[in-house]
Amino acid sequence: MQTSAATPALPGGRPRLVERYRRFLPITDATPTLSLGEGFTPLVRLHNLGRKLGLNNLYVKVEGQNPTGSFKDRGMVVAVSKAMEAGARAIVCASTGNTSASAAAYGAAAGLEVVVVLPAGKIAIGKVLQALVAGAKVVSVEGNFDRALELVLELSKQGDHPITLVNSLNPDRLEGQKTGAFEVCDDLGRAPDILALPVGNAGNISAYWAGFSDYHAAGLVGSTPRMYGFQAAGAAPIVAGHPIEFPETIATAIRIGNPASWLKATNARDESGGVIEAVTDEQILETYRDLAREEGVFCEPSSATGLAGIRMLAAAGRVDRDALIVAVLTGNGLKDPHTAELSVGRIMEAPATLDGVSRALGW
Ligand code: F0G
Repeated sequence: MQTSAATPALPGGRPRLVERYRRFLPITDATPTLSLGEGFTPLVRLHNLGRKLGLNNLYVKVEGQNPTGSFKDRGMVVAVSKAMEAGARAIVCASTGNTSASAAAYGAAAGLEVVVVLPAGKIAIGKVLQALVAGAKVVSVEGNFDRALELVLELSKQGDHPITLVNSLNPDRLEGQKTGAFEVCDDLGRAPDILALPVGNAGNISAYWAGFSDYHAAGLVGSTPRMYGFQAAGAAPIVAGHPIEFPETIATAIRIGNPASWLKATNARDESGGVIEAVTDEQILETYRDLAREEGVFCEPSSATGLAGIRMLAAAGRVDRDALIVAVLTGNGLKDPHTAELSVGRIMEAPATLDGVSRALGW
């Protein structure tokens, strides 16, 4: 096996994500090289929605452009590399979908057995198929994500061969996810004033805050952003101040009632001078649709939660119109065709003639 020191770049000379930010990551010469081309996702300026919301410096980071279509790949590449380094034979995770898709892909590339436990019936179909096609053993359980996480925690301690848990309880996951914050700063040439994102198991808000703090401590940026986290109203334990036994939301990726990184997330909020608030499913879907229709950016519904939150605060006059704002769009819209289908009009049918098509168009 090659070591990372021997192959710092992908073909064509583009650096691998973990090499680019190696000094901030737990990567050593003993860590195996693994990459599916993660990271380097675009920061897109929202001119149309920005105008509509009265915000002059509004950007989204399009994490759906990662190899498996979500931000999870940043953490997974580090966690699976470290699992290989530690001699693991298998990786396990609970998931609302994206973690399992990412674990399945990186586990396949690493030649590891992959086991994922999913809450029955609530996972977007694209994510389940990603895991199955990549050859993961997929088990669905009656119960929500929180129960699935308890189960894999127990599972990871069993078995007759070394198993690594790759949920965000694994610190290597959060280390890798810090790279999203580094990229935002590198692309802007400074830290944003506000970083908004969805909060589910609360790992990503914790990782972004750690990333901004690392960059600031290293003198690479002169400030850190306020962290603005948003939960779905039916699954908002941090906002409520207590676990939610039966979380419900159309944003299935963040349908979580007892986040594992709860304390880290509230620390990120408080240290940064930020907020963690709730938005409704209607607000999430409105922003999901507007992103596609007014900006051409197709994200999965849960991903729009951070921007939906900014929109809510902007409407209430709670955001400075000149603030430099980045909302992280955490996953790709293609993962959840079912919600897409429910939220759009029907295809127009027409006879296969110019007249027929013109009529259908109303031209
Ligand atoms: N957005 C998407 C698309 C997600 O899949 C997740 C989490 C989040 C946001 C929230 O991030 O958990 O770090 O606060 N998905 C996990 C999973 C739980 O299993 O795929 P978080």
